Amino acid sequence: MYGMVNKAMEDMVCAAYGETMWEQIKERAGVDVDVFISNEGYPDELTYKLVGAASELSGRPAGEILEAFGEHWILKTAQEGYGELMDVGGKNLPEFLNNLPDFHSRVSMIFPKLKPPRFKVSGVKEHSLCLHYFTHRAGLVPFVRGLLRGLGKRFSVPIKSISLLNSRDQGADHDTFLVEW
Ligand code: HEM
Repeated sequence: MYGMVNKAMEDMVCAAYGETMWEQIKERAGVDVDVFISNEGYPDELTYKLVGAASELSGRPAGEILEAFGEHWILKTAQEGYGELMDVGGKNLPEFLNNLPDFHSRVSMIFPKLKPPRFKVSGVKEHSLCLHYFTHRAGLVPFVRGLLRGLGKRFSVPIKSISLLNSRDQGADHDTFLVEW
């Protein structure tokens, strides 16, 4: 994944626990990188190791860390670094979610080697929709939950529930969330 992902994780950890903790996480993960370069590619494996080490050192489950990271991604990383892209994504929660299938094609203009997730939307109602999430990566469902919660906060819309209707863990070919607000 692009270095901006690891950099964003560094931001989140340093804000919550301080720089010493981040150095300890890198050491435990066996990651020997001083400074992550945003537009350079790093193995996915490295990001997973950082999450694993953060989980061990903080005593919080990896899923919780990924969920917090999803919120941080929307409210800090995307907002502060790519505010215009976020603005183009939609002016309210349902509009943004409906436009999500096209979102990363715009991101790919900045990051041409992006291997983005794919999204589809179905069953749109006034206060709910189904979000279909396709990826070749494993274990990122909690990250998507956090992204959705972050979007709820971005648009000041309380999210009532995010339930997993189908999941790859149970043999489906993709994960399907029912998002209600
Ligand atoms: C301006 C805002 C955004 C930028 C710059 C961005 C960029 C990226 C980058 C660089 C990656 C790593 C993949 C790679 O390097 O190959 C990624 C992954 C991902 N992004 Fe975005 N993204 C943005 C917004 C969003 C939003 C709004 C969502 C959904 C609500 C989203 C969902 C995801 C997910 C789930 C992944 C994990 C990769 C996977 O599932 O395979 N992103 N994005």
